[in-house]
Amino acid sequence: MSNKTIRNLFLAAACLAAAACGGPKRPSTVGTTPEVERRVEQILAQMTLAEKIGQMNQVSADGGVDNYAEAVRRGQIGSVLNVVDPEKINEMQRIAMEESRLAIPLLVGRDVIHGFHTVFPIPLGLAATFDPALVEEGARVAAVEATAQGVRWTFSPMLDIARDPRWGRMAEGSGEDTWLDARMGEAMVRGYQGAQWDTTAMAACIKHFVGYGAAEGGRDYNSTFLTENQLRNVYLPPFEAAVKAGALTLMTSFNDNDGVPSTGNRFIVKDILRDEWGFDGLVVTDWNSMGEMVSHGYGADRREVARQALDAGVDMDMMTFGFITHLEELVRAGEVRESAIDDAVRNILRVKILLGLFEHPYVDAAAAETVQYAPEHLDAARRTAEESAVLLKNDGVLPLDAGRVRTILVTGPMADAPHDQLGTWSFDGQKQHTVTPLAALRERFPGRVIYVPGLKDSREQRARFDDVVAAARRADVVLAFLGEEAILSGEAHSLADLNLKGSQSELLAALQATGKPVVATVMAGRPLTVERDLPHCGAMLYSFHPGTMGGPALANLIFGDATPSGKTPVTFLRTVGQVPMYYSHNMTGRPYRGEKLLDEIGPEAGQTSLGNTSYYLDYGAYPLFPFGYGLSYTTFAYTEPSLDKAVYGRDDVVRAACTLTNTGARPGTEVVQVYVRDLVGSFTRPVKELKHFERVALQPGESRRVEVEIPVSALAFWGADGTKKVEPGDFQLWLAGDSASGEPLAFKVE
Ligand code: BGC
Repeated sequence: MSNKTIRNLFLAAACLAAAACGGPKRPSTVGTTPEVERRVEQILAQMTLAEKIGQMNQVSADGGVDNYAEAVRRGQIGSVLNVVDPEKINEMQRIAMEESRLAIPLLVGRDVIHGFHTVFPIPLGLAATFDPALVEEGARVAAVEATAQGVRWTFSPMLDIARDPRWGRMAEGSGEDTWLDARMGEAMVRGYQGAQWDTTAMAACIKHFVGYGAAEGGRDYNSTFLTENQLRNVYLPPFEAAVKAGALTLMTSFNDNDGVPSTGNRFIVKDILRDEWGFDGLVVTDWNSMGEMVSHGYGADRREVARQALDAGVDMDMMTFGFITHLEELVRAGEVRESAIDDAVRNILRVKILLGLFEHPYVDAAAAETVQYAPEHLDAARRTAEESAVLLKNDGVLPLDAGRVRTILVTGPMADAPHDQLGTWSFDGQKQHTVTPLAALRERFPGRVIYVPGLKDSREQRARFDDVVAAARRADVVLAFLGEEAILSGEAHSLADLNLKGSQSELLAALQATGKPVVATVMAGRPLTVERDLPHCGAMLYSFHPGTMGGPALANLIFGDATPSGKTPVTFLRTVGQVPMYYSHNMTGRPYRGEKLLDEIGPEAGQTSLGNTSYYLDYGAYPLFPFGYGLSYTTFAYTEPSLDKAVYGRDDVVRAACTLTNTGARPGTEVVQVYVRDLVGSFTRPVKELKHFERVALQPGESRRVEVEIPVSALAFWGADGTKKVEPGDFQLWLAGDSASGEPLAFKVE
């Protein structure tokens, strides 16, 4: 039985049991049981108001855990973050368990975003694998390593849809697409939390609720202006999917949407998350996001925003100290009901009990080391880095034949950047464990690698490259590792210019001018605008920061031991001025009359002339590479797809099929993608939406019939009448290797 099945059975049993024993009337999303609820009530009944409020207080221990010992003893802290030393965690837990009145363990949190010690590719790279099972495996590895040290809560996965690569935190999510984001989110939740509650279960925290990725101008923390239509059809579904997958916790976001900061937004937290979805896990603020409501000008002071946050449905305050300072007086003043505090504390205790913290508050500090960087963890990280790389261009130079290239020039600022290839949000990754491309290539080809960095970092400006060019002349092949340092993406690291920084483009051009074959590998936290660089290399492999094992993974890809199969989870732009450009945009009244689009939209489009359509005079209407794009070392051919019916009922399943053939000379894996368009809706609908994907591995010459099933219910959207349903009418479906390929099949829903 799969992990997922075990977990689902467990959740189903828990729901039934809870309902039968007068527990929560609705099915629990976190899988609580009557027994757990009884324990929650027993503890709650013994708590003073001050102790309840203490549970709602989360503090960062990076200033030193000793500072907080007394507060833990007095029951004024429910959770700490940023402590990973198992001895220190054990000591804090000991104070909580032995010296505080009620012996409630602490919930220890940490940003374990794409691995703990063993660092996996950044989440954008994870999404590029289109392989939820592999992503789940990676999240499990992260949980095993982090929980061994006492961390039982990660602030991941980030489910923010990101359609603006200027926004540095695009690195931390799954890119631009709602469907892909939801599948990745579920996989991470399952991986972190595990199949059943044991000491390796790490609570997931889905974040940032909601809309944070739509920051105006791509500047982090900026306001968003998402309509309810966009929220419900684009931004909320990944959160709903992750709640259904059993996510134990959720974090509110920094942004204000249409004037309401998320941490004080009752509509999204109470009405949607709690009431519509029935979420009975824990809601935490982002770091001081309650306090920032004062900066937003949404509340006059910390007292007021503490009341607003509680009223919105927040349970725990991360680092504002608003609850701990003001809730007691707010209750006394009659401005806050104690029952609201009780509800928050229930949500917190429930999570602590489900995680088994009361029974297992301590870790075996001596054993914690032994699981870090375990060989199978490094192996999973390498496989993931291989699957996450996206081949953007190949004139035939790749894969290299190790027998034919004797001397290899390795160059570029990312060739040997052990910290930077880990990417953003890798607090616990240690660069001494990173294997860089240079290290991997040297090990593989002793005595055959010349290393001339060319640029010391990605931002260096340099006028001449005589040393690199001279080395290139001596080499049989040039491997240029370019990109951006970890610090150029991530929180508060937005960019206005998305070209390769410094003199990297000039370096590549100088290398190309030698006439030697040039392979460019770009490691970055976002899709950079590499159009100007493509002519200066024979092949370009795009690796979103690949993590600890990036070097061996890239070496395997370059020399053909692994074949690229990654597909981009985000549109690559030609120039930053095209932002935002994403595949699932709505159809305008004057679509660009590119020939392909004209086919898709029918003859009405002919009424407008090219000059009056939606495009840029200087950059046209298309991106550099569409969502879902990525080459392989082999080629794939799709036969014309077919559908099992022409007309479907709303409870039916659409069965589409085609034959996929590996038409090249090497084995390879294709990510088959299914897109659907709803032609007429009560709201204008996107031109295409991803509804299914799967990886298909084929030997050279092998053909396979690919049959996919799309339940008609998956075509539902939140329409103008304020309900989510499938609106009958005409649809189109594509089965293709990326979002811009294939021919549509028509069907109807009645
Ligand atoms: C980030 C969160 C993170 C938190 C704790 C905040 O600045 O926005 O995503 O989980 O810090 O480190």
